[in-house]
Amino acid sequence: MPRNTLQSRLFTPFVVRTSAVVLSTLLISFSTKAQQLGLEPTRAQHAMVVTIQHDASDAGLAVLKEGGNAVDAAVAVGFALAVTYPVAGNLGGGGFMLIRDKHGKTHFIDYREKAPAAASRDMYLDAKGNVIPKMSLAGYKASGVPGTVAGLSYAQKQYGKLTLAQDMAPAIRLATEGFVLSEQEAHLLESKDMSKFPSTAKIYQRSGDFYKAGETFKQPELAETLRRIAKDPTDFYKGAMAKQIAAVEKAGGGLITAEDLAGYQAKDRNPIKGRYRGYDIITAPPPSSGGIVLVEILNILSGFDLPKLGSDRSVAQVHYITEAFRRAYMDRGDYLGDPDFNQLPLKQMANMKYAAAWRSSIDPTKPTPSKELVRPSGFMPPPPQVTPRKESTQTTHFSIVDKDGNAVSNTYTLNSYFGSGVLIDGLGFVMNNEMDDFTSKVGVPNVYGLIQSAANGIEPGKRPLSAMTPTIVTTHGHWFRHGKLAYVMGTPGGSTIITTVANDVISAVDNGLNIQQVADAPRFHHQYLPDRLDLEKKFPVDVADQLRTMGYTVNRLAVADEKNPGVWGDSELIAVDPKTGELLGGHDSRRDFGKAAGY
Ligand code: DON
Repeated sequence: MPRNTLQSRLFTPFVVRTSAVVLSTLLISFSTKAQQLGLEPTRAQHAMVVTIQHDASDAGLAVLKEGGNAVDAAVAVGFALAVTYPVAGNLGGGGFMLIRDKHGKTHFIDYREKAPAAASRDMYLDAKGNVIPKMSLAGYKASGVPGTVAGLSYAQKQYGKLTLAQDMAPAIRLATEGFVLSEQEAHLLESKDMSKFPSTAKIYQRSGDFYKAGETFKQPELAETLRRIAKDPTDFYKGAMAKQIAAVEKAGGGLITAEDLAGYQAKDRNPIKGRYRGYDIITAPPPSSGGIVLVEILNILSGFDLPKLGSDRSVAQVHYITEAFRRAYMDRGDYLGDPDFNQLPLKQMANMKYAAAWRSSIDPTKPTPSKELVRPSGFMPPPPQVTPRKESTQTTHFSIVDKDGNAVSNTYTLNSYFGSGVLIDGLGFVMNNEMDDFTSKVGVPNVYGLIQSAANGIEPGKRPLSAMTPTIVTTHGHWFRHGKLAYVMGTPGGSTIITTVANDVISAVDNGLNIQQVADAPRFHHQYLPDRLDLEKKFPVDVADQLRTMGYTVNRLAVADEKNPGVWGDSELIAVDPKTGELLGGHDSRRDFGKAAGY
């Protein structure tokens, strides 16, 4: 197993290799400062928008003030981030939007990418059956059929109050007039991998004359594409724009055709629901693994009194939580894939008796080595044939609550930083490399060591398994305290997404951290295989040492380097003060260009 695999997954392949050290230092020093300052949440009386980029937060806020609801604001933010956070915000990717309206009705819009019709199980293997390095990550063949435009326009039409053009106006303005780059944002545009694609480098890197902090970054081609979408979003899938995308794909050797685009549809699915210590957890169903794994983790932990065992990030808490992660990720690896192509044992995974059986297998004094872990019998069907998978790296999450109490939790992605690196020339946006979220080859451990079942093999029209976990938490109890919005949560971070959301729920619900402290708390992660406890750089050294003594293989690098920025994805969170109803925003201090914006 290569060293630093988690960190490299989170920061490569399309990351700013040359400037990573500088960026890491900036991120870390900011985080440390934020902690020292003991940051408080941002407070607002009526509405709140929390995103990774301040102009995008403002775009959402402007639409709310114009009379839009949380869905209008989410659509505004989704398109704005495609302009102002192009490493992950996108038109050429996909994601999930979880909506809970003021009456408690929930919707989960699945706008995950789909494999093109010409995709096949072994498409990333050479003649000898070996995986061709990077083929599923870089270039034309790495892309799935994008879902973002379908998802955002569907959400707008079904659940928004304003028009699509109104919701998209801020994004169009930001692309036309430009926005001012901070130092971190300018660094993000410097990826060497992008320089390999001249059309991409022309837009984001002025063909080598890299943008600097303080400069205004304008994207006229993208502005025109956004104007066309605002007029008619179906043009992207069935009209002139679809033809343009298909032509660029064909010229570059990609698989996506006009027919693939015409056949794409967002799906309105039922969210996964669970319960944890007086709260209802509303979260992501397959094709995300996130929700069901989150529920399984929380079910296992529900039998422990965590604050009694120790404080937030104490050795005892980290031990029990890690053992729950390990067990739930074993099931993730063995069973999950696209629900439209597989029968998934979701009910069995969420069974409380099954959780209790898992719980009783946890040794209070030491870790259970993953290779010795035995699934409690009598609960689950036999797993399909196990296969390895790769999972990587650039996504963004935002959380929104409007004045009426409607809430949106949205996570969307290009997968890696700038996705496949391929720009649709003439339309000014990059394509995803989500095909890498499928299994490239059955039976061979991949570079990241994350394994999962044949349920996630490549098939035409299939959605790759995701870890994205947009989540909404509401109160569960007597009628006067039942069904009240409590938290809107989510994060990027590949396979660390689920454990981060779990840690955020636990820090808030069990340990009573305020929502800003929750966002900034140092993270820990275990994914069953590799059998290793990964820690962020700022995780307390003494706790890490004690966990090592207890028997864990601990991966906490002391020095940030180019492959290890030392920080993972940014949680963007909202809490509702149960006493006053005030909205509390927690923008993750790991990145300094975002904002919790409220009024
Ligand atoms: O859908 C998934 O699970 C991955 N494509 C997400 C990648 C990701 O979160 C990277 N973020 N830093």
